[in-house]
Amino acid sequence: MAVLGIDIGGSGIKAAPIDVDTGDFLAKRYRIPTPSPGNPDQVIEVIRRVVDHFDWNGRIGAGFPGVVRRGVVETAANVSHEWVGQNLAELIEDATGCQAVALNDADAAGLAEMRFGVGRKYDDAYVLFLTIGTGIGSAFFVKRELWPNSELGHLQVRGKDAEHRAGDAVRKEKNLSWKKWAKRLSEVLQIYDFLFNPDAIILGGGVSKKIKKYGKYLENVQAEVLPAELRNQAGIVGAAMSAEESIIIR
Ligand code: BGC
Repeated sequence: MAVLGIDIGGSGIKAAPIDVDTGDFLAKRYRIPTPSPGNPDQVIEVIRRVVDHFDWNGRIGAGFPGVVRRGVVETAANVSHEWVGQNLAELIEDATGCQAVALNDADAAGLAEMRFGVGRKYDDAYVLFLTIGTGIGSAFFVKRELWPNSELGHLQVRGKDAEHRAGDAVRKEKNLSWKKWAKRLSEVLQIYDFLFNPDAIILGGGVSKKIKKYGKYLENVQAEVLPAELRNQAGIVGAAMSAEESIIIR
């Protein structure tokens, strides 16, 4: 079955039709920069363009960088606050005439990584999936089942959100070496490890492909720490999967 997966981010909106049974892209990914400030009207207009681009009239699944409960956005840390209270799934349906589902972006990426990526091997385990980009997104998998809308990027670490300690935006802004940044990430992972005791922590997002540069500096984490395999594609694939998954609370 083919579903149009859309990954809404603070800097770009990325989409592709996905075969949700195999995780394959059915067409080349299409990316449009997120218009500033990224309010609902602007983002929905971009989604309309994306749907036109693919001449799409099937189902849509959309990942959003905030808490999304039954289609309704409840928080928006790194995008316009005008989103709070908006029913993203309904807005997409009204604008495109396509049946739509919306969920948190990290939950989406985690679903894809658990089915088609490195998470495949964790059948009987407790896995914490993280996306590390501008923010830090999280998704818990309890024996493969998703606990949606966890927000570990906002867990306080010495008086600051974890994502403001170890997000990739911080590394870039402060021009941190991989070693210095890895020290910050270690601190955050140690706290997650101590509080939740997962069997494994999967690191996704843009930095997953750079693990060779910082992996050796991560220390004192009991859980197995490993990089995601699908990298930046996971968000699109998982968003598409969510239109088929019964595990998401709609
Ligand atoms: C948001 C999360 C999101 C993460 C990654 C955080 O700031 O609160 O909902 O998953 O960024 O985009």
